[in-house]
Amino acid sequence: MKQFGAILWLTGLSGAGKTTIAQGIAQELQKRNCLVEVLDGDIIRTHLCAGLGFSKQDRDTNVRRIDFVAELLSRNGVIAIVAAISPYREVREQLKKTSTNFVEVYVDAPLSVCEFRDVKGLYAKAKAGEIKHFTGISDPYEEPLNPEIICQTDKFTVEQCVKQVLDYLERQNLICALELVTK
Ligand code: ADX
Repeated sequence: MKQFGAILWLTGLSGAGKTTIAQGIAQELQKRNCLVEVLDGDIIRTHLCAGLGFSKQDRDTNVRRIDFVAELLSRNGVIAIVAAISPYREVREQLKKTSTNFVEVYVDAPLSVCEFRDVKGLYAKAKAGEIKHFTGISDPYEEPLNPEIICQTDKFTVEQCVKQVLDYLERQNLICALELVTK
């Protein structure tokens, strides 16, 4: 029987909690002996996508490259968890259509909350004009219209959001697919 994985695509504003939730999901899946890999925009941009900026074109290229790798992983039985702002709806919709087991997770926190958290101090810099084209401040974020899951990180804890995603995967029989097929 063929092994299969999935792509969990976490989209949302900077500071919404994508990385934290991605890591939480990865930990839980590893406990269940699933093969997992996290593809985080911040890290990917230091190698695979080094040199790309934040124009629409560059962001879309970034997102397509990440999806390319996620697909390679997924078709080898890995659950690839992507954490990237991926602000443009059209490219996300395209990927959803062309990828297998693509689960769009909207990590949703109001801009005001993300600005208040400002974990990396980037919102302050963007508002001071030191960073141009900053998502939510001087660049658009197009929220998903039909995400499979919405994690409201201003209303629920990280644990609750992680559980929400795991419950969905279980309902869709996407958890531990590898374990099922190798038994
Ligand atoms: S995406 O838009 O192309 O999907 P990605 O998730 O890879 O973005 O990278 C976003 C990260 O880059 C942010 O978390 C932040 O640390 C950093 N960053 C630097 N400049 C910007 C900017 N102009 N807009 C958004 N994020 C930026």
